[in-house]
Amino acid sequence: MSILKEKISDERLSEFFDQAYWFHTIDLGNGRATKGVYDVRPIVDLHGFEDSLAGKSVLDVGTSDGFYAFEFAKRNADSVLAVDTNVYDGSVPTDVSPAKMGKYVKKYSREKEEYEKFHDIFSALGLNGSNKLIVLADYLDSIVTFQQNSIYELAEMGSTFDFVFCGGLFGHLKHPLLGMEQLRAVTSEKCIITLNGSLPISQGLCAKVRQKIGRIFLKTIGVYDYFSENEHDLVLQYIGNQAGGTFFEIHPSAFREMLLASGFRSVEIKGDYELVDGRLDEPQRGAVFHCLV
Ligand SMILES: C[S@@+](CC[C@H](N)C(=O)[O-])C[C@H]1O[C@@H](n2cnc3c(N)ncnc32)[C@H](O)[C@@H]1O
Repeated sequence: MSILKEKISDERLSEFFDQAYWFHTIDLGNGRATKGVYDVRPIVDLHGFEDSLAGKSVLDVGTSDGFYAFEFAKRNADSVLAVDTNVYDGSVPTDVSPAKMGKYVKKYSREKEEYEKFHDIFSALGLNGSNKLIVLADYLDSIVTFQQNSIYELAEMGSTFDFVFCGGLFGHLKHPLLGMEQLRAVTSEKCIITLNGSLPISQGLCAKVRQKIGRIFLKTIGVYDYFSENEHDLVLQYIGNQAGGTFFEIHPSAFREMLLASGFRSVEIKGDYELVDGRLDEPQRGAVFHCLV
């Protein structure tokens, strides 16, 4: 039974759902939803999740507001543990470039402001920070639980999970191979990983021919085509010096090799998708990987 529904007025809860900063658009029932920066509902089916997770223990790594964790609960998982480094007190949850730290300190100060603005709601659940996943778990009467943890320390929990999901985190990691080894260590059956900001998957022969014609054209009119000249060899691009919180753009084939090197028995690239960032209206490319142990 929801503590919030009992202690906080419906009007106040509506204010919170409408005004808080949401990473994900999450259905609240009765046609209501949070207003997330990302609405991943249209791409859920592209992940290849099992329709029923009955009997399975699930771990969602880098969960943010927990859209996927709640999705796994809806698919009848036995347990869903959601982990994130965010402590929702205003500190920066991502290991950013030191040179860009100031920008991120400012960005995450909104968590502290949010905690103060909706103090009645967070404190009703005994929270010291603005953890919206815990608020939703109570409101939705969901089995999802939260633990503050880093992908780099998963094995220290001493548990394994039948199904592990890690969405959109790898671009933010300085040490992707260490993260992969940790995911492998806690997976007992299957792990699904999405790589946001992945480099394009080759479109095959037609695309190569089109590219070649484009290059000949640029050469003919005397334009030095620096990007295309280098593009075909690109398996990993370091962008931490520009973006600070995003480090690598990785080609899906290279990412697959890294996952195999981390101990997964088989790794299949299930496909790719485009995700619209509600702030930029600019689609972000992503790829889905199914890893078996
Ligand atoms: C881009 S969001 C992805 C949210 C969600 N998984 C999805 O696919 O939509 C990345 C999340 O990873 C968290 N994060 C950053 N570094 C982390 C780490 N080392 N371990 C676990 N989570 C981390 C961030 O706080 C953020 O909530």
